[in-house]
Amino acid sequence: MCGIIGIVGKAPVAERLVESLKRLEYRGYDSAGVAGVVGGGVQRRRAKGKIKALEEVLAAEPLTATTGIGHTRWATHGAPNVANAHPHHAGRVTLVHNGIIENFAELKAELAAAGRTFESDTDTEVIAHLIDAELATGLAPIDAFKATLDRLTGAYALAVLIEGAENLVLGARRGSPLVVGEGQGEMFLGSDALAVGPFTNRVIYLDEGDYVALDHDSARIFDASGAAVTRPVRVVPTSAVMMEKGNYRHFMEKEIHDQPEGCQRTIAAYVDALTSKTAIPGDVDFAKLERIQIVACGTSYIAGVVGKYLIEQLADLPVDVEIASEFRYRQPALRPGALVVAMSQSGETADTLAALRYCKAKGMKSAVVVNATESTMAREVDVVWPIHCGPEIGVASTKAFTAQVSVLTAIAVAAAKARGTIDAAEEQRLVKVLLEAPRLIAEAIHLEGAIKEIAADVAKARDVLYLGRGPMSALALEGALKLKEISYIHAEGYAAGELKHGPIALVDDQTPIVILAPYDSWFEKSASNMSEVMARGGQVIFITDTLGVKHAPEGAKVVVTAPASDPLVSTLVMSAPIQLLAYHVAVLKGADVDQPRNLAKSVTVE
Ligand code: G6P
Repeated sequence: MCGIIGIVGKAPVAERLVESLKRLEYRGYDSAGVAGVVGGGVQRRRAKGKIKALEEVLAAEPLTATTGIGHTRWATHGAPNVANAHPHHAGRVTLVHNGIIENFAELKAELAAAGRTFESDTDTEVIAHLIDAELATGLAPIDAFKATLDRLTGAYALAVLIEGAENLVLGARRGSPLVVGEGQGEMFLGSDALAVGPFTNRVIYLDEGDYVALDHDSARIFDASGAAVTRPVRVVPTSAVMMEKGNYRHFMEKEIHDQPEGCQRTIAAYVDALTSKTAIPGDVDFAKLERIQIVACGTSYIAGVVGKYLIEQLADLPVDVEIASEFRYRQPALRPGALVVAMSQSGETADTLAALRYCKAKGMKSAVVVNATESTMAREVDVVWPIHCGPEIGVASTKAFTAQVSVLTAIAVAAAKARGTIDAAEEQRLVKVLLEAPRLIAEAIHLEGAIKEIAADVAKARDVLYLGRGPMSALALEGALKLKEISYIHAEGYAAGELKHGPIALVDDQTPIVILAPYDSWFEKSASNMSEVMARGGQVIFITDTLGVKHAPEGAKVVVTAPASDPLVSTLVMSAPIQLLAYHVAVLKGADVDQPRNLAKSVTVE
């Protein structure tokens, strides 16, 4: 959730710490802070709110350290104020933390009983006290660190400075990711490759339970048992750590526009364009599979719902989709003949990871559809199905969603062919349809001008209803989620058939109702729902396609006409209009599009 950076540098590091924190700000933006070793002591600079506020503090009070750590926070324990901002400090120890220490209350009570006093409400501060107490017994820094790690229950990625140890940063990970970056006479620690991207492309992904001591020239890595280990150095492609907005105002806007290319790259990895056949990486025998269990959170969950429609319909293969935070805490009835598929942009979402591990423990084969291919999920599954849309920075997911849906669409076609529900000719037809999708998505993005005009009305609304049938019912959920997330307007997504069972009570002449209705087998039913809401004064925004527009009932306030597409890819094509609507409403409302309040991109706490 939070972002971490550590640098053992040759030159002053404050500016670079801040540069890296800006890249990590998508992980949390409640407060930010840095600390550095100065003249044998450690100094801190902290500020409530975004990195900008920290920059002001640093301008007034510069930090000259050449070894330092930094943090951007998404609050869990304790309000977002300066006292709770990281780095935290106790005695000789200053540290930053991402995760949650579950046994912090008992540790805190123990430390308080020993006479230690606390300056924050965080779980993190106890870690600093524990290390300091171990140092006081005469242990060397790395041993005091290890002794402390052994006492922690919960999740953490840590970066630690010790007074008196001029060129040392300690790091550890369990449940939260952490990477080491190798420079020239400098070493880096970061929450992900993006964090160290401006300084080096040589990255070591620490394993679960690893801890590390960095100095100028080396990273001494130990596993959870304390044994010295080596982990491979990976050269990360520049494209994986690029994060420029280009000419766009926001990352979200750029990422919406990135979608044709992101989907094209993704689709190309799952089909053979020459033969028009599917080519799914990994050894999953779809013919023998009894069931697929999808687990995910947020937008990734909605991508899974779209996948369920496609896979069940095309391949006659049962698919269950469940929100990971529910799935992991009930006792779902699972069978080894099923495949668990986690959907996750980050590959680190705590609930999804726990649900995945639950299924693995039940003996199920596992796969992940993931953007971060070096993430914890990617490293724990049997089969990795990458999306190839590039890093997604906007907190509201857009291009990862369409890339995830692209992967599941290719899988639906492959599974159908393997299970004999379609023949070779139909597979070829569907693959061609899928290959055409990026062009149609690009055309749908061209609706931006029309959607901007609609946004002005929607921005005034208190509630907005999104309706659709079939896969469009999933997209209705996504449309409502996007609007809520970034514009703070209350929105509900509903399967249109449920309209009469509740949501119709919301309809009045002040409520925009977005109906998603491409010209498919559900179209007539969706058109009837449109008539029903119009009869009650509802202001309908009818998003259809060039075929549907000829058959739409009269009376919609606005009709948006997307390019016509085969039902296989209509969710991909119809995504851009709803994303653009949410985006332009949020811009009109002056909201912080890329970093909406209270949210974070990567949720590594449950
Ligand atoms: C957060 C993000 C969403 C994302 C969800 C799941 O809520 O704001 O955009 O869909 O987490 O994240 P994942 O990385 O597992 O896809």
